[in-house]
Amino acid sequence: MIKKWELQIEAHQNLQTLSADWQKLWEIASKTCEKAYAPYSNFWVGVAILLENNEIIEGVNQENAAYPSGLCAERVALFSAGILFPNQTIKMMAIAARRAENPQIIPVTPCGACRQVMIEFENKQKTPLQVLFKGTENEYYIIETVSDLLPLQFNSTSLGI
Ligand code: THU
Repeated sequence: MIKKWELQIEAHQNLQTLSADWQKLWEIASKTCEKAYAPYSNFWVGVAILLENNEIIEGVNQENAAYPSGLCAERVALFSAGILFPNQTIKMMAIAARRAENPQIIPVTPCGACRQVMIEFENKQKTPLQVLFKGTENEYYIIETVSDLLPLQFNSTSLGI
C-alpha cells in the first residue's frame, strides 16, 4: 500500500493580493533582515511574527564562530515570543531572506530544526500557525498550518505523554 500526503500552498504572484496583516509582516521581515548577524554565511534571514494581542516580534539569524552555536531567525523570534508573551497565541509568521551583497529578497524555507520548533509552538497553542515565505518560483507562499510543513512529526504524543 502506498500512502500519500498533500501539501496545500496558497501561492500569490505579488504582495498586493495578500491581506494587510501579511503585507505588514512581510515588510517588517524583509527590513529586519538587515539586523542579521551572519558574518560567516552572509545569508541574512528576517522573521516577523504576529501574536493574538497584535504585538509583532522580530528575529534574525545569529551566527557564531563555533558554527553550530548559532541560531536561525525563526527560532530567535519564537523563543523571544515565548519569554516576552508566554501565553499569547502566535498567529502568523513571515520569513524573508537575502544575501548581504544583494538587496533582493530571495526564496527561503524554514529548515528542519526550525520546523520542529514551530510545530512545538503550534501544538502547544492548539491553533494553526500560518507561515509566509517566498517559494522557489519567486511567488509568495502561505502555508495554513505548520503540520503541513512537517508530516510524520515527532511530538509529545511520540513520547507517550
Ligand atoms: N537560516 C535561517 O535563519 N533560517 C532559515 O530558514 C534558513 C537558514 C540561517 C542559518 C544560518 O545563519 C544561515 O541562514 C545560513 O544557513
